[in-house]
Amino acid sequence: MPQLPTHRPRRNRKSQIIRDMVQETRLTTHDFIFPLFLIEGHSQQVEIHSMPGIFRFSADKLIDEVGRCVELGIQSFAPFPSINDGLKDRLARESANPEGLYLKTIAEIKRQFPDVVLMTDVAMDPYSSDGHDGVVDAESGEILNDATLEVLGQMALAQARAGADIIGPSDMMDGRVAWIRDVLDSNAFSHVSIMSYTAKYASAFYGPFRDALDSAPKKGDKKSYQMNPANRREALRELALDEAEGADMVMIKPALSYLDVIREVRDNTHLPVTAYNVSGEYAMVKAAAQNGWLDGEKTMMEVLTSIKRAGADAILTYFAKEAAEVLRRG
Ligand code: PBG
Repeated sequence: MPQLPTHRPRRNRKSQIIRDMVQETRLTTHDFIFPLFLIEGHSQQVEIHSMPGIFRFSADKLIDEVGRCVELGIQSFAPFPSINDGLKDRLARESANPEGLYLKTIAEIKRQFPDVVLMTDVAMDPYSSDGHDGVVDAESGEILNDATLEVLGQMALAQARAGADIIGPSDMMDGRVAWIRDVLDSNAFSHVSIMSYTAKYASAFYGPFRDALDSAPKKGDKKSYQMNPANRREALRELALDEAEGADMVMIKPALSYLDVIREVRDNTHLPVTAYNVSGEYAMVKAAAQNGWLDGEKTMMEVLTSIKRAGADAILTYFAKEAAEVLRRG
């Protein structure tokens, strides 16, 4: 006679109340950082074709959107600008223009919502005529690491002056965390944090974002600075450097195909760990839901829960607003 089981894990699943009691991971709106897309103009609100439910807003509309999110309990935002082609150049000079679209809007959001946390993006691509995150050598096409640091430092400083709470270098140049920390500290911005994109992979999942900002590289790809998706140990090397250079928080990006990396980083640092649930991950769920192939809402909550379970303390996600609505309904 086969033995009947003594140990029955199903007992802990027998009712909703017990399931809730033993639930290990819970999402709250405090977990979310909501990326926002900013465009020129007035009264503009344009849905991004490959990201249903996500819009590119002119500054006035973006501020309304921040207000709606705050109502829902979302308090942290990561704005990204779409810059007119005429303002782009090799050295991304527009990125440090305090009167430019991005910095003026950052300052205005902080004026109207002093308590919200703004994480600004440091990378050249939205302002670069080459569409790269670094300075491109005109002859060789190489991405010049150390020449880029100079640009990133000025960009970060301008963002701090505009009122950024957290600087988010997403460029993957070597040494940029230390460089930016030094520029901030020597300009009386020692209170401004750095959330480093520690392990940012050269991923196909960024496609919809590049459409949204028209920021795809004009030539070549980003593999000489973003990480190879096949590598995990390399993330720990980047982590050690970012810690040594003074990062306050570290990030893994994308999230969903990199849950193992999130866990690995979580287990190897005392710093807060965040994950970026990127545009393509959002688009996948939306596309399947629109076809009726998946339950969009349940899939969204499962995706976000899995990222937190893997070890993320906070999640940058285009789902933030929709998930906050679900959480509010309870
Ligand atoms: C570039 C940047 C990218 C994203 C955020 N910052 C794209 C890239 O590296 O080409 C992607 C975010 C997303 O896909 O949601 N500095």
